[in-house]
Amino acid sequence: MVVFINYVKPLKHADRPLMPRFRDTDLRTFGVAMFEAAGCVRDDATTIIDHLVESSLFGHDSHGSLRMYEYIDQIQAGTFNPKGRPRIERERGVTACIDGDGALGQVAGRLAVETGAGLARLHGVGVVTVRNCSHLGRIGAYPLAAARQGLMGLAFVNAGRLGRQIPPYGGIDGRISTNPVAFSAPRPDQDPILVDMTTSVVAEGKIRVAHNRNQSVPAGWITDSEGQPTCDPGAYVGPPSGAILPLGGVVAYKGYCLGMMVEMFGGILSGEGTANGELTVRSNGMLLTVYDPSFFCEAEDYAAELEGLIQHVLSSRVDPSIGRIRLPGAPEFDTGRERLAQGIPIDDTTWSRIIERANRLGLDTKTWDAHAISG
Ligand SMILES: NC(=O)c1ccc[n+]([C@@H]2O[C@H](COP(=O)([O-])OP(=O)(O)OC[C@H]3O[C@@H](n4cnc5c(N)ncnc54)[C@H](O)[C@@H]3O)[C@@H](O)[C@H]2O)c1
Repeated sequence: MVVFINYVKPLKHADRPLMPRFRDTDLRTFGVAMFEAAGCVRDDATTIIDHLVESSLFGHDSHGSLRMYEYIDQIQAGTFNPKGRPRIERERGVTACIDGDGALGQVAGRLAVETGAGLARLHGVGVVTVRNCSHLGRIGAYPLAAARQGLMGLAFVNAGRLGRQIPPYGGIDGRISTNPVAFSAPRPDQDPILVDMTTSVVAEGKIRVAHNRNQSVPAGWITDSEGQPTCDPGAYVGPPSGAILPLGGVVAYKGYCLGMMVEMFGGILSGEGTANGELTVRSNGMLLTVYDPSFFCEAEDYAAELEGLIQHVLSSRVDPSIGRIRLPGAPEFDTGRERLAQGIPIDDTTWSRIIERANRLGLDTKTWDAHAISG
C-alpha cells in the first residue's frame, strides 16, 4: 500500500525515530536519474546506484542513501569526474594497477573486480590496486562480487591523505583513517561468508547518520576534541572535531596495528598515499586480492570443509546475553531480505537533502514523496 507520510521530526536521543521507507526499486530509479543528470553515462549511474542501494538494503545507510547526495555534491564541486574512465596503468604477472581517472569509486571498483577475477581465473590469484577515484563506498561489495562468481576476495582500503579520524593507541589526535578490511568466500547454494569491517570501532558515516538523526551513539565509539569519551556525535563532528576510537576496546592497540597495516597495503601499494602529507582530495586507496579456490583445492573438499566448519561453529552453546550465533555477513544478508520486503528507511534530513540535490539537477521530484511506504 502506498501512503503519503508526514515526516515525523526525529526525537533527540530516540533509539529509532519513525521514518518513511522506500522501495529499493524506486530508489534505484531516482538515483540513476540523479547521477545521469549529474553527468554519468547510464551504465556508470547504474553501477553507482546499485552499490548505494545494496548498501542501504544491507543496513549500511552510512554507505547508501547518505552518499546519494554527498556524491552529487562532490561531482558538482568538480572534485570528481562523472565521465572519468578508469584504466589499467600497469600490469605485470598476477598484478594490475588501476588509475581511477578521478571517476566515481564504484566505477573504478567495478574494473578492479573484473580485472582481479580475470587474473584469478588465469593464475589462481589476482592482485589489483586502485587509486585516483572518489569514495569506494561499502568495501565488502568488492570481495562479495568475487564470491558471487565462486571466487574468494579480500580488500584493504585507506582514505589516502585525508583519513585522520582515528588516533594511534595511546594518543588523542586523529592520525589515520577508519581503514576497512573486507573478505568474502563463496558458500555453495547459500549466502557467501562476508566480513566487511573498519579497523576502528565504527565507520565514520555511522556517526554522521546518528548526527543527522539527532541520536546519541554508544559509549566507547568516539571522543571529543580533547580526547574525552562522549556519546554526542556533534562532539565528534565539531568543529573542533573529535576522534573515533580504534577497534578493540581494552585491546584497541590491535585495531590501531591493523589500521597502520591498511595504510601500507591500501595507501602505499596503490599509490594513493597515506594519512601523512598535505591534505588532498578525499579518495580511497585499495588493494583487492582475488583467489580462485579451484587452484588450491577440489571444489568438493572446499564445500565439505567450509560446511563442517560452519556447523562446528554454530554448535556452540549460546550466550543468553547475546541470544544467538550468526555467521559473518548474516546481519547484512538478513537485513537485505527484510528491507527488500519492507522498504529502506530514510531519515528526514537525508531525504530532504536528496530531494534538494535532485531539484538542483533539474529533476521533477514532485511525485517522489508519494513513493514513501509505511514500514
Ligand atoms: N570507503 C571507506 O572509506 C570506508 C571506510 C570505513 C568503512 N566503510 C564501510 O562501512 C561499512 C560499515 O563498517 P562497520 O565496521 O561499521 O560494520 P559493522 O560493524 O556493522 O559490521 C562489521 C562486520 O561484522 C559482521 N557482524 C556484525 N554483527 C555480527 C554478529 N552478531 N555475528 C557475526 N558477524 C557480525 C558483519 O557481517 C560485518 O562483516 C562497511 O561496509 C565498510 O566497508 C567504508
